Amino acid sequence: MSLKNKVAIVTGGNSGIGQAIVLELARQGASVVIDYVAHPEATEALEREICKLGNQSLGVEADVSKLADLQKLIDAAVGKFGRLDIMVNNAGIETRTSVLDTTEAQYERVMAINLKSAFFGTQIAARQMIKQGGGGRVINITSVHEDWPMPGNTPYCLAKGGMRMLTRTAGVELAKHDILVVGVGPGAVATPINLSTMNDPAKLAQLNAAIPLGRMARPEEIASVVAFLAGAGASYLTATTIFTDGGIMQSSVGL
Ligand SMILES: NC(=O)c1ccc[n+]([C@@H]2O[C@H](COP(=O)([O-])OP(=O)(O)OC[C@H]3O[C@@H](n4cnc5c(N)ncnc54)[C@H](O)[C@@H]3O)[C@@H](O)[C@H]2O)c1
Repeated sequence: MSLKNKVAIVTGGNSGIGQAIVLELARQGASVVIDYVAHPEATEALEREICKLGNQSLGVEADVSKLADLQKLIDAAVGKFGRLDIMVNNAGIETRTSVLDTTEAQYERVMAINLKSAFFGTQIAARQMIKQGGGGRVINITSVHEDWPMPGNTPYCLAKGGMRMLTRTAGVELAKHDILVVGVGPGAVATPINLSTMNDPAKLAQLNAAIPLGRMARPEEIASVVAFLAGAGASYLTATTIFTDGGIMQSSVGL
């Protein structure tokens, strides 16, 4: 229970990696605000599961591309649990479009949900952490594509690249408040965002062959890293990204 008495927000928290993070933080004793935009029944199921663990959570419907909704999440955490210690900027989408075919609307949507949300999520979480005192943690779920080009997924790479510099710059700016800002960069994780690959045996085999560990990650394998970064053992880590990618960025096989 290394996160006992800590309060966390996880954006996009009712599916995939976000859901696994919510559960792991709760298992470690944190009270968790679960942000969601769809499937309230999934959020309710998570809340019941956390209740069975003897811990507390609160589902809040909020579109993280809107600053007012992000503020709603902070207000919910402070209103229900009295403070905010851990902000996990996890929500994200892809359009799988290239430089040549991305529309203005697609560009703006990806940047708003992936990057604007992380910027203002960091900003208003940090303001609350400074107000209450005692530091805090901001954990940005980026991707190997914060660094690694993915042709045919250009807006996503731009947004994740922006999160890379957000993590580094905000980490440096906020260090004096003992607010640590760290990125977690997964490779390929078995979640709804990858269903088309997971449902295509040939594509899946090709992907697995490119990953030194030979398989996609389970969402729980990303969540355990996030829980570590939220805890006392990660007190000297900031302004950098931990790649949880099964070695794929170092592989000469590539994708
Ligand atoms: N699965 C992977 O292979 C992988 C790899 C690297 C990075 N990531 C990143 O991990 C994060 C989680 O992705 P996932 O794989 O769990 O997929 P997912 O589709 O299950 O999760 C994305 C979540 O974001 C939510 N979301 C979308 N728009 C939102 C909005 N406007 N406001 C609030 N929430 C919104 C979705 O409802 C969903 O719950 C994303 O940032 C993604 O880019 C995933």
